[in-house]
Amino acid sequence: PAPTPGFPLPSKHSQQAFDPASDFTSKWTRADAKQIMAQSNPNVAPGQNSMSPDVTMPEIPEDFPQMNDDVWVWDTWSLTDENANQISYKGWDVIFSLVADRHAGYGFDQRHWNARIGYFFRKTNADPAKDKWNYGGHLFMDNTSIGNTEWSGSTRLEQGNHVNVFYTATTFHDVAERNAGGGGIAPDAAIAKALGNIHADKNGVTFDGFQHTKLLEPDGKMYQTKAQNPGFAFRDPYTFADPAHPGKTFMVFEGNTAGTRGDYQCKGEDLGYQPGDPHAESLTDVQNSGAKYQTANVGLAVADNKDLTKWSFLPPILSANCVNDQTERPQIFIQNENGKNKYYLYTISHQFTYADGMRGPDGVYGFVGDGVRSDYQPVNNSGLALGSPTDLNLPANNPSGTISGQQNGRQFQAYSHYVQPGGLVQSFIDNVNGVRGGSLSPTVKINFKNGVTQVDRSFGQSGLGPFGYLPTNKRIGGEGLY
Ligand code: FRU
Repeated sequence: PAPTPGFPLPSKHSQQAFDPASDFTSKWTRADAKQIMAQSNPNVAPGQNSMSPDVTMPEIPEDFPQMNDDVWVWDTWSLTDENANQISYKGWDVIFSLVADRHAGYGFDQRHWNARIGYFFRKTNADPAKDKWNYGGHLFMDNTSIGNTEWSGSTRLEQGNHVNVFYTATTFHDVAERNAGGGGIAPDAAIAKALGNIHADKNGVTFDGFQHTKLLEPDGKMYQTKAQNPGFAFRDPYTFADPAHPGKTFMVFEGNTAGTRGDYQCKGEDLGYQPGDPHAESLTDVQNSGAKYQTANVGLAVADNKDLTKWSFLPPILSANCVNDQTERPQIFIQNENGKNKYYLYTISHQFTYADGMRGPDGVYGFVGDGVRSDYQPVNNSGLALGSPTDLNLPANNPSGTISGQQNGRQFQAYSHYVQPGGLVQSFIDNVNGVRGGSLSPTVKINFKNGVTQVDRSFGQSGLGPFGYLPTNKRIGGEGLY
């Protein structure tokens, strides 16, 4: 797109690939993220959506169905293989969700402190508009996982009926904090996995035999520790194979740049302005603004053994220093474009985690390059792939805090967007005009190519597909007999 008058130009990114083990970290710069406002309409009536329809999630109706009456459901992922294929196992589609008890006396915003991994299954040939997901209950038995709270991850079908569940083991230390929803002793976080078995018969799907292994804790050199910042993030493992490095298994995860909170000095490369850009900010102004507190990164690790029980950190593949503090649930999606593999890194982020001087919506952000480690080009020049309808001209709000009256009532309609094969994007419903969610959103579709993404409004009804539509694209076992 042509540059917008009054705004800086985005940074130049070559998309060039580097050795995954090298220390090149791509920067999502302030100049890049400034394009979100450059592409937003400054003249909408207050509370309308100011973003382009190409990057706006269609509006979820207020009378959405709840997929389960006993548990709230949020972050969700499918049973996959190492190439992000979604696996139908013996005729069943299987999904994993963070769940929390709806009847335990705490509210939806307290879900994080009470999170467990649950699972659902549904026949592969079910009608996604009519047939409900069957709830299978908690995946792990009580008090068996590494932490006392289970946060997001990913699940891979391995040989035979083995599954590896990669997850975040979050440990809260104080019961008051769990019940009140924050403010107490900061939790510990580790990335863990559980190897177990999946069983399927005509009645459905069960799991057993999970053996848990702690895999990684932040090192304080590349990835920030709790001692360096009680508000650190270290979570959301997603593992995959890279055709450019056969035999290796990689993991991306959410991290923060190591170092004591507040010590970070914003750098010219974090700002990313082109030389002589009249709309560039000065480094001193940015450093003095408090932007140094926002230090998100997307981490990379490589497995050291075939059992995937030993891992080594590699330097982060992306940082958002002085731009944003959270790049959550990262995933790598490889797509062939013009005979060449292009690597799309998708990650979710919030409006309230942006640094001073930056503004963007809750939603999913994308970056494209020639390899797992590359000089990633933000999609649409800005990084924003799909956001909830938001008036970006009004100040940022926090989904679990106060919400300004004038703002679009759908600014937090959905979160935790996860890109599936075919550009299908699933997410969970958070808040639709004050109606709280805790259930999966209608799936939407984005088309992406050459670093440009666009919501497909011909998909479903005006762009909204079935609720909780996570179709499988590869069958293993059973030939769909059950
Ligand atoms: C995203 C997220 C994840 C985390 C989970 C905790 O919605 O913040 O990063 O694993 O929720 O509930």
